[in-house]
Order: sequence, then C-alpha cells, then structure tokens
Amino acid sequence: METGFGDRPELLDQLAADGYLVIADALPRALTEGLLQEWQRRYAAGAAAPAQIGKGAQKHEAQSIRSDRIHWLEASDPQPDVAAWFAVMRSWSRAINQSFFLSINAFECHFACYEPGAFYQKHRDRFQKDNGRRLSLAFYLNRDWCSTDGGELVLFDPEAEDRILKTVLPTFGTLVIFDSQRFPHEVRPTRRQRLSLAGWLKSIPAHEAALQGTVLD
Ligand code: OGA
Ligand code: MN
Repeated sequence: METGFGDRPELLDQLAADGYLVIADALPRALTEGLLQEWQRRYAAGAAAPAQIGKGAQKHEAQSIRSDRIHWLEASDPQPDVAAWFAVMRSWSRAINQSFFLSINAFECHFACYEPGAFYQKHRDRFQKDNGRRLSLAFYLNRDWCSTDGGELVLFDPEAEDRILKTVLPTFGTLVIFDSQRFPHEVRPTRRQRLSLAGWLKSIPAHEAALQGTVLD
C-alpha cells in the first residue's frame, strides 16, 4: 500500500520548507475507519489511562496540563489496521530519511481520547534530557468536526511563541506532521469527544532502538 509521500513527493518538500505539514485524507478511508473502530473498541474495553507528562523518574500525571486518556501501541500489535498503520509509518520514515538525512530509526505512538472539556496546554514534544523525537505526528479520527466543536491543534511560531502559525481541526483522516524540537503547540479544550493517534518519528542510539522493538530498517 503506497500512501502519502510515496506518490506525492511534493509533500516532503513542503515539510522541509515549513517544518510542518497538514494532509487531508492522508490514509485510505478503510484504514482510517478501521483505526477508529479499533480505538473505540479498546477504549470501551478500558484500555485507556490518563496521560502523563515527563519521562523516567520525572513522569507524572498532570491533569492541569493535559487531560487526555491514552493507549500506547506496540509495533508487534497483530490487529490488521494497527499493523497497516505501522507499515505506513515505516514507509514514510524511509521516504523522510532519503530526503531529509534525519536517520529516523524508531517510532512510538498512542491512541488518544480527549473527552469534552479536555485539552493539552502549550508545550513542545521533546523531553529535557532526551531529544530523540524528531517529527511529531497527529492523525485524527473524528467525523464531521465543526469549528464550534473546539479541540483544535494550534501550532505556534518558534521565534514568537504567541503568534499562531496554523490552526487545525481534528477532522477524520487529517494528519499533521511537524518538527518536534521547534514548534510549541496546544490542543484547545474540546466540546466533543476527540479521538486521534499521536506518534513520534525518532532518531535514537541503535541499541536503544533495538530494545524498544521499533527499529525501522
Ligand atoms: C501530543 C499532542 C496534538 C493533537 O499528544 O503531544 O500535542 O492534536 N497532540 O492531538
Ligand atoms: Mn504535543
């Protein structure tokens, strides 16, 4: 399955030029549909936990900063749509490595659910002591999202952090990619349940990539 960058190389040029990219209908509709159903199934089965912030010993719940609930995915997940999602991410990583010299060698991702009222305050996606995250990605699973539903992703100017660069509605099939190190961003409070996948393309020491089981060849 070739999706996104393989048949649309101009998208990579845009990502390189701007540092971010918004793609409508990024994946085949049946796959987006399958991922939505799988997340709904797991959420109903109690697979989600309150998201935490920080890393290692610093990791803690901080509902005043973010109030989404998440479910981390393993690269070995046997569910066909989840497996197809990882396959697409591998193919995109290869395309990105070929044109950006980023040496992406790992990928991590989780489903996320923001219930009405939930938000994620302005932040950057890199940890203080671990800059392995290179590109952040959000893929949205919500049908018929209106601007009155809230829950927008807002990207801010890295050089003038109050200046809004881009506001994105979390509409079914829309995917956003941006430079993890550069862009402050936030999720505005949502008025509707907001479902998504969040992921990070990483460049980390080879032995760590092997340990995490997410090595991209
Ligand atoms: C994140 C994040 C953005 C979004 O999970 O770090 O910023 O639109 N998500 O869900
Ligand atoms: Mn983020």
